[in-house]
Amino acid sequence: EGYEVAILGATGAVGTRLIQQLEESTIPVSKVRLLASSRSAGKTLHFKGQPVTVEEAKPESFEGVDIVLASAGGSVSKKLLPEAVKRGAVCVDNTSAFRMDPDVPLVVPEVNEKALYKHHGIIANPNCSTIQMMVALEPIRKAFGLKQIIVSTYQAASGAGQSALNELYSEAQDYLDDKEMSADIFPTKGDKEHYPLAFNLLPQIDVLEDNLYSHEEWKMIHETKKIMLDDMDSPEIKVTATCVRVPVPISHGESIYIEVENKDDASVEKIRQLIEDAPGAVLQDDPAHQVYPQPINATGKRETFVGRIRPDLENKGAFNMWVVSDNLLKGAAWNTVQIAERLVADNLVEVK
Ligand code: A2P
Repeated sequence: EGYEVAILGATGAVGTRLIQQLEESTIPVSKVRLLASSRSAGKTLHFKGQPVTVEEAKPESFEGVDIVLASAGGSVSKKLLPEAVKRGAVCVDNTSAFRMDPDVPLVVPEVNEKALYKHHGIIANPNCSTIQMMVALEPIRKAFGLKQIIVSTYQAASGAGQSALNELYSEAQDYLDDKEMSADIFPTKGDKEHYPLAFNLLPQIDVLEDNLYSHEEWKMIHETKKIMLDDMDSPEIKVTATCVRVPVPISHGESIYIEVENKDDASVEKIRQLIEDAPGAVLQDDPAHQVYPQPINATGKRETFVGRIRPDLENKGAFNMWVVSDNLLKGAAWNTVQIAERLVADNLVEVK
């Protein structure tokens, strides 16, 4: 009784959290398949205390599978998810491979769960930085409307995967040992130049494009419009972003500036109340006691933490805030499993 679930990329930074989030989810699981590259085939991982042997991911791996949770990189998803759909599975994809496909819903359940009803076998999980921004801003948009979003991100190393996180630790050790830091991954795998992240800041996440924005910044702009307005190019809300990698292992921070539509109605008190009432959000905003969100405290939690809410003193109807969430959980594994939970609850997955 239950669903057969495959986790693609099960050995990675997000994959190991997908296993854990699935263990703790409401989805009845009859069998789990753990898939990765040939390098990991034969390795033993565990699901609910039972040993499971990792298999090399191939098109045939999806025979009999009902739900696929994928986080093995965009090219792997592009190649294998259509094979899984062909075999009758519904896939929730954490990579950027299908996010801008008009036939693929891009979903943050707290914001646009209804988009799941339009799925054709693949549902995309948004970028980690976009997801936590949506959890914090959707209640404000619903109450007052949004004219503009200006966001600067402080993104953790683990967003670039387990090997990138290992690189941050070894660079930090080398720096403390007075050795030269060797940089192979940051700012982004496959680009020409590499720089150390330890004790540094890198204003490049993903490739720099001809339009002068990084691809990560481009994603935040267009994913926000697709999730909030169902149109990746909508002019209705103006969005701009600066994405920065910081030497923090887990949990992204975001400094967000918004201008609301209904300037006369909005206030810090009302925004605080909206965040308190918002699903998936936690208000941590008590300046008198120095309470505000921090990556150290957000790590391991499913919620998005919001604080430092304050008005722009010179521009009525505009506000600043600070938003932190675990990029591997709400930014990736939890949002993916949460989408799968909603698919199951709404009868949008067939059991074979
Ligand atoms: P493996 O551990 O065998 O390399 P991360 O995001 O932490 O870098 O993890 C990436 C995940 O994607 C890992 O589980 C990795 O498996 C998996 N992966 C990488 N390349 C492939 C591939 N060609 N086919 C299937 N899984 C892959």
